[in-house]
Order: sequence, then C-alpha cells, then structure tokens
Amino acid sequence: MMQENQNLNIQWYPGHMTKTRRRMEEDLKLVDAVCEILDARIPISSRNPDIDVLCGSKPRMVVLNRIDMADPAMVRNWSAYFKSKGMAVLETDCKSRKGINGFVPAVRTLLSEKLRHYAEKGQAGRPLKLMVVGIPNVGKSTFINQIAGRKGAKAENRPGVTRGAQWITVDQGLLLLDTPGILWPKFEDPEVGVRLAYTGAVKDDVLDVESLACHLMEMLWRRYPEAVRQRYKIELADNAPGYELLEAAGRKRGYLVSGGEVDLERMARVLLEEYRSCKLGRFTLETPDMLEGERP
Ligand code: G4P
Repeated sequence: MMQENQNLNIQWYPGHMTKTRRRMEEDLKLVDAVCEILDARIPISSRNPDIDVLCGSKPRMVVLNRIDMADPAMVRNWSAYFKSKGMAVLETDCKSRKGINGFVPAVRTLLSEKLRHYAEKGQAGRPLKLMVVGIPNVGKSTFINQIAGRKGAKAENRPGVTRGAQWITVDQGLLLLDTPGILWPKFEDPEVGVRLAYTGAVKDDVLDVESLACHLMEMLWRRYPEAVRQRYKIELADNAPGYELLEAAGRKRGYLVSGGEVDLERMARVLLEEYRSCKLGRFTLETPDMLEGERP
C-alpha cells in the first residue's frame, strides 16, 4: 500500500521543514490539543525532534502505536514515562483496533478543564478539536481511519501541502483536522536513521543491508538474547559482535556459498524480514533511560 513518495524517504529539505512548521503553527491555532503518533518499538526515533517547541503549551496526547509488535513490558514503561511528562497516553494496535475505543474518553479527560469552561459559558455542546501528527509511516492515516470509522482515506504524505482546514467528526463532541501533520524525524542523529531502517520505515536499498543486520543482531543479542538463541540456535559470548552472530546464524541455517562461506547478505535479509514480521518476538529497541538528561 505504501508508495515511494509516501515512504519516509520524503526528501525533506529546509524549505519543506519551514513550510511544514508554518503550516503546523497555523493548524495549532485551530485545535485544543495535539495527538502525536509514535511507533511503540522505537518511541525515541519515531519522534519529531522539534515537537515540544512546536506545540508550546498545548495539551498533548501520545499514541504508542503498533503495540502488537512491541515488547509489552516496555510499552508500559513508555506509557509511564510520557504520563510523567504530563501527557495523555493511548496504547494502540491500529490493525486490530485495540485501544481505539479509549481515544474519546482520553481526550475528554485531557481537556476536562476546557469542557468545564465551555459548560460554564453555556456552550456544553461545543466540540473539542484535535490534530494528529507524526513522522511518515508511523500509522497516522490508519489511526485516523480507525478513530473516525472510515475507510480508504490516505494522508497526503507530502510535506508542506497547502490545503484548507476541514474537519472529520469522530463523535458529536470531537473533531479531527482532516489530514495529519507529517513531521520529519531527527535526521542529524545517525542512530535514529538506523533504527527507522530496522523497522522498515526507511527502505533497505538506501542502506547497506549487511551492516544494518549486524547492528540489529548485536542489539537484539544484548536486549533479547533468549529470543535470538531460540530462533537461530546459536550460542556465543554475551558480548559477541553482530558480524559473528549473523555469521553463526547463517551457518546454522545452511546459507552457504561456494567454498563453505556463509551467505551473509541472505542471512541479513532473513534477519530483517523475521524481525519486522515479529517472527523473533515483540521487541522494543529504545528505553526511557536512553533519554536521561535530555529534554522530554
Ligand atoms: P502514515 O499515514 O503515518 O504514513 O502511515 P499508515 O497509516 O499508512 O501506516 C503505515 C503502515 O503501518 C500500514 O501498512 C499500516 O497498515 C501499518 N500499521 C499502522 N498501524 C499499525 C499497527 O498498530 N500495527 C501494525 N502491525 N501495523 C500498523 P502497509 O503495509 O502500508 O499497508 P497494509 O499492510 O496495512 O495494507
């Protein structure tokens, strides 16, 4: 379903970012709160680096999406982390609709003061207004479609597209800005690019698949050794480098080229595919303590 230009490989350049930032500043004036979608597997790398500045003091909700693919214990940790920063948190699996019904009540709680204020002014029926934002491919369109109970509407994944504000009715008391705000990831951090690539948000063909898989293998071996052990039947030292782990896995699988050497590229592609389809398990690659000392 994803097309080239809808992928994360959007060519963001400073002009795009400036336009998008301006657009968002305009949109922000129209809404009561901002709902930011994150990939629960990589809640740091799937964030926009400027979101806090962009949103200012607007009430915020974080949606931890793709919980069907993330480590459940880590989803709880991340929820607690964002709640501790004063944000509302919703955990969702947009494919199965899990968590979706919690959206409206969570918004009403987040904006309870506003609702009280409206009631005092005799405007009890006045709807709350929200916008959904996130980096490409994080699940914004799917989320909006689920929330609004509609099908087939695809976000215009082009930065800085001009449009008039239109609203989607979620229920009588809640409106969503019709298209999500597409934000940029933190390009300047190479680790962010790599983690986005692990999840498939960045296409493999722009990266060296073998070194990507070596890094992923090493990370999984440190964080989830039992899962790797079980899947690939390998036994190496705790601090074994990714290259050796990948090679051992390839050898076990019998991926050999002439001369008996391991076909590392094949094993690399298999690892990435098995990670992305959760055949290895449900993993989260980033933890809140990695943010220690940073701005929330
Ligand atoms: P975007 O608007 O932010 O760019 O993202 P979009 O909704 O298009 O979602 C990107 C892909 O992620 C879609 O898959 C979508 O189905 C999938 N997705 C969204 N939320 C979830 C979730 O909670 N769990 C899982 N497992 N997947 C999710 P696709 O491959 O483009 O399409 P399709 O396979 O659904 O047809």
